Amino acid sequence: MLEINSVSAGYGALTALENISASLADGARLGIFGHNGAGKTTLLRCIIGAHAPSAGTVRLNGEPIIPGQVPATVRRGIAFVPQGHNVFPNLSVEENLTISGLLFDRSFVTEVMRLFPVLEERRSQRAGSMSGGEQQMLALGMAMMTQPKWLLLDEPSTGLAPVIVRNVMGQLAVVNKTFGTGLIIVEQNVPATLKVVESCLILKSGRAVYQGDAATLAAKPDLWEWF
Ligand SMILES: Nc1ncnc2c1ncn2[C@@H]1O[C@H](COP(=O)(O)OP(=O)(O)OP(=O)(O)O)[C@@H](O)[C@H]1O
Ligand SMILES: [Mg+2]
Repeated sequence: MLEINSVSAGYGALTALENISASLADGARLGIFGHNGAGKTTLLRCIIGAHAPSAGTVRLNGEPIIPGQVPATVRRGIAFVPQGHNVFPNLSVEENLTISGLLFDRSFVTEVMRLFPVLEERRSQRAGSMSGGEQQMLALGMAMMTQPKWLLLDEPSTGLAPVIVRNVMGQLAVVNKTFGTGLIIVEQNVPATLKVVESCLILKSGRAVYQGDAATLAAKPDLWEWF
């Protein structure tokens, strides 16, 4: 279980998040939406321990996430795919995956390649020479090498064509089903994300303006009023 308890956070005098709470059962799928600067990335950074909340705590299975100890958080089962394609461009696909699993089980490369067949097809290709969609799949694969209980994704669809976005979202659903990995997806592409997540949080200037199930949000004709 992942719990966000009354988390506030900021940068100096600036408040980026105010009193955010959420409680997620193992394997849950949450979408986080909101305008630029709403605090979405800050919330992911608080969850992974890359940013210290000014108030509140994040707990994984009852134990607090310690700010500043990102590698420890990853070892405890939370993986973070930051915005952009975070691959080592000069290494091959297989080398990228192996490096990501160094502290875990390197043989999991086989599982990850089964999950993302495009990575198998291109195992010896230099990562930097792959398309944007392929690099995003590799970034997902690299995160999966840590066999996470939770996968945090910061705008995974950025820069991808609609058909590739569907592909990435579809693979996230498969990851969730196959391994029971919980998903926390920050996205600008709300319709594509609503197909994968079951609950949503909409942030506006650091506050939660909607929190509820995805189906209710998808059915709302005035959905955009929250943005
Ligand atoms: N390192 C930083 N130093 C100072 N202010 C920051 C820093 N990072 C973010 N902020 C500010 O905190 C607020 C929230 O930023 P955050 O990156 O969390 O928003 P976001 O919802 O992820 O936006 P985007 O959709 O543009 O990625 C913004 O006002 C931003 O300018
Ligand atoms: Mg952001």
